[in-house]
Amino acid sequence: MKKPAHHIFVCGSFRATGSAQGVCSKKNSMGLLQYLEQELADRGLPEIAISSTGCLKACDHGPVVIIYPENWWFGGVEDEAAIDAIIDGLESGQPAEAYLID
Ligand code: FES
Repeated sequence: MKKPAHHIFVCGSFRATGSAQGVCSKKNSMGLLQYLEQELADRGLPEIAISSTGCLKACDHGPVVIIYPENWWFGGVEDEAAIDAIIDGLESGQPAEAYLID
């Protein structure tokens, strides 16, 4: 198995029961997963993995996306423009300031 250089986690609000009930899911975080995957492929960035997660405990900022190993946390990721900005930042090495969570 080749380990990814970066790993993007998208909050899917999953609870222990397996149901998605939190803020991020209600704001369509999972609806953006397919776009994120396609955008990474279009840009030729296969070394970046994507995973959906349980609640990341930052619900006030939802939808939440985090990237490791950078430890960048983004909030308000509600549309394709936000995803584009986050990937642009990953490519340039500078996080998308407009969506950063302090
Ligand atoms: S539901 Fe996404 S951070 Fe809590």
